[in-house]
Amino acid sequence: MKKIAVYTSGGDSPGMNACVRAVVRTAMYNQVDIVGIVRGYSGMIDNDIVELNSRSVSNIIQRGGTILKTARSAAFMTPEGRLQAYNNLKAHGIEGLICIGGNGSFTGAKLFYEEYGIPCIGAPGTIDNDLYGTDFTIGFDTAVNTAVDAIDKIRDTADSHDRVFFVEVMGRHSGYIALAAGVAGGAESILIPESAEDWHKMIDFFIGDHKSKKAFSIVVVAEGEEHGGAMQIVEQLKAMDAQFDARVTILGHIQRGGSPTAYDRVLASRLGNAAVEALLSGEANKMAGMRNNMVVLTSFDEAINKTKHLNPDLLRLVDVFNC
Ligand code: F6P
Repeated sequence: MKKIAVYTSGGDSPGMNACVRAVVRTAMYNQVDIVGIVRGYSGMIDNDIVELNSRSVSNIIQRGGTILKTARSAAFMTPEGRLQAYNNLKAHGIEGLICIGGNGSFTGAKLFYEEYGIPCIGAPGTIDNDLYGTDFTIGFDTAVNTAVDAIDKIRDTADSHDRVFFVEVMGRHSGYIALAAGVAGGAESILIPESAEDWHKMIDFFIGDHKSKKAFSIVVVAEGEEHGGAMQIVEQLKAMDAQFDARVTILGHIQRGGSPTAYDRVLASRLGNAAVEALLSGEANKMAGMRNNMVVLTSFDEAINKTKHLNPDLLRLVDVFNC
């Protein structure tokens, strides 16, 4: 391969820049030309493609966001959009792709490979940590640390006022952030989409037979929790005549920004490097992930469609510590 392209796609995550840097420098090291596609699949369709070299990725390892920008493209989901994207890549002489993104981004890359045969290797960039084939995704550790920092601050005011705080964290379909932030933040309850039991335990803790005598509490709620997010949950508890002073804090996109942790920078560097090396050695249609501290390749098909289960040990800890 003489020329490859890198793009970031879907929701941004801290560490995407560190991954772009690793991809560019690995390509340069292997004497392969590298270009960046701006705004993911939108830029592929709009022909927004820029030259990159070692210096274009200087001083970005510590920066949140993505210098290549990102987008969720509806046009790429149409055959016409993908044909336009293919024609643009061909005109630039691009022979392979590195996609840094999550589920939706890899679904697009898989479809594109099946239709046009342009090989693509993915690096998992999403705060949600919901991809099969990697223990951690790039950005998850930073997002959890951001959430824990916020929870620590909320604890102070919750304690002063004897209040129950419901802290909503991101995770549309996944409780990974909620579970990790809840355990690290010492939450009394953690509500996640993957568990139905958590709701009953929480009710029991606050208003049931085993009602807690704690003066203040923290409940961490994943935004995709089936009872509808922190606001709705507090409304439902009020309707059940819950006797506490409740407040809601929604952390939202704060979790998507900020300087990546050292863990995310190392992960992004290793996976960006591995993705390019895999592409250059003839691999395609796969994601480079980290399992047991080893780089492994997993087919896009599995990464997208298989479920990565939450660690049951972590779930159990919440109960044990709530005595
Ligand atoms: O997939 C990452 C994520 O941050 C989810 O946790 C969240 O539900 C979603 O993106 C928000 O997307 P947007 O920034 O498009 O509103």
